[in-house]
Amino acid sequence: MSARPDAAADTASLDAGAFRDAMSRVPGAVHVVTTRGPQGRAGFTATAVTAVSDHPPTLLVCANAGSESTRALVANGIFCVGTLAWDDEPLANVFAGRTELRGDARFGQGRWTTLATGAPVLESALVAFDCRLVSAEVVGTHHVLIGEVVDVRVGRHARALVYRERAFHGL
Ligand SMILES: Cc1cc2nc3c(=O)[nH]c(=O)nc-3n(C[C@H](O)[C@H](O)[C@H](O)COP(=O)(O)O)c2cc1C
Repeated sequence: MSARPDAAADTASLDAGAFRDAMSRVPGAVHVVTTRGPQGRAGFTATAVTAVSDHPPTLLVCANAGSESTRALVANGIFCVGTLAWDDEPLANVFAGRTELRGDARFGQGRWTTLATGAPVLESALVAFDCRLVSAEVVGTHHVLIGEVVDVRVGRHARALVYRERAFHGL
């Protein structure tokens, strides 16, 4: 169902900060989204990840259009989503840009392997989804990246890392 265009037109936009505050109440699984290719190895921490379809297996990631890692991912055309366990919180901070590490240097943290696409796969992830980028649509500040899942790696059993009210929690 599509939104009524007239309803959008006569409603003032909600302030971005109020929206971010509201979203901070929503718990989200924490992932690292990684890529490799002609634009190099790069990756970022993300909670905006969801399944879209199981036939073909498809997921989406919302990625800041101003991010160096997003630019590399779109140019490389492949990515892997690794879902983090609670004890990978330091890695989540590195890939969220909370240290001085940028680009390839972030991969000094963690142990990495590859699946079908060659994108970096975090060995300690609870599960990893190896994807081929099939579309990238700009919505406001972000790219909505649609990936066809070409391979998965089911990892260890451990508490999941969850982000809520601007803090990490183990679930
Ligand atoms: C818990 C958490 C969740 C995040 N989720 C997203 C997200 O879903 N999409 C996004 O683009 N950035 C997200 N970020 C911010 C990026 O991880 C951060 O801006 C990163 O540094 C971008 O990579 P770059 O430094 O290579 O540009 C999140 C950060 C944190 C701490």
